[in-house]
Amino acid sequence: MGKPGTIGVFTSGGDSPGMNACIRAVVRTGIYRGIKVKGIMRGYEGMIDGEIIDMESGSVSNIIQRGGTILKSARSQRFRTPEGMAQAYENLQKAGIEGVVAIGGDGTFRGAKEFNSHYSIPFVGVPGTIDNDLFGTDFTLGYDTAINTAVRAIDKIRDTASSHNRLFFVEVMGRDAGFIALRSGIGAGAECILVPETETSLESVINTLEKGWGRQKSSSIIVVAEGDEAGNAFEIAEKVTARLPHFDTRVSILGHIQRGGSPSCMDRVLASELGMAAVEALIDGRSNVMVGKVHKEIKYVPFDQATKHHNQISPNMLKLVEILSV
Ligand code: F6P
Repeated sequence: MGKPGTIGVFTSGGDSPGMNACIRAVVRTGIYRGIKVKGIMRGYEGMIDGEIIDMESGSVSNIIQRGGTILKSARSQRFRTPEGMAQAYENLQKAGIEGVVAIGGDGTFRGAKEFNSHYSIPFVGVPGTIDNDLFGTDFTLGYDTAINTAVRAIDKIRDTASSHNRLFFVEVMGRDAGFIALRSGIGAGAECILVPETETSLESVINTLEKGWGRQKSSSIIVVAEGDEAGNAFEIAEKVTARLPHFDTRVSILGHIQRGGSPSCMDRVLASELGMAAVEALIDGRSNVMVGKVHKEIKYVPFDQATKHHNQISPNMLKLVEILSV
């Protein structure tokens, strides 16, 4: 197939800062290359319901700095069914869409892969998730902004923790991945960081806290990834304080503030590069791949590889936490 005449773009799954910058890049690269671009609203849900709009250069003015996504987002159960997928295909055909840029995370790409195994409209993915949990890219869109949001929040918690001589358990997002916890925890000087990728030893947490107590350390911060296998921040705090009742303990869940806000410069630039590369990939006839950036180079990785596993949590970074909490 030659260059597509019309392409579609959508955002899906958990939104992330930088999605708007990416939509802008897709629309403007398309126009630059003489391709019409249509926006599909609410991810796969809008594809099934036929909510497809024309996009011009002006449709994406003044959005590079905005969090969220102007195309809205959703997690679709209906797209998992053959009927939902067939309806989506019919709507894409009706709109004359000959290639699609999917901006989202692992669920989005699993859906795209399944669609591409039944239907011939090519899909190219851009990694848009704060979790940084996709293989084939060093960073996903939104991750840099999210860790900076988390660090700023933890800094504020440290102020009050220190004033009151308290121990805080701070839960950050990351259902299956500990990247947000690890980076924001190191950046905020956390005493311990608990991630789902490694087995959490409560003994070692207790040991670190007791050592700190022994040298009159007045406050401590433990960062817990939402998906840690030892439990959520409340459960872990309860188990730890049962053994350390002399600590004045509080729990803080950062939650969805990590998903919003104006994207960092790094996220805006990455979104612009990957959005352009995704359109170029469709022009080059690629399909069923995610575009990522690895060691400063644009790379294409098949959807099933991107979603099957994620980059490893570096053991050196975990060691760093241990060393710096002495
Ligand atoms: O995928 C991004 C993410 O923010 C995860 O870190 C988190 O576990 C999940 O989405 C929360 O999803 P929802 O907003 O649907 O509750």
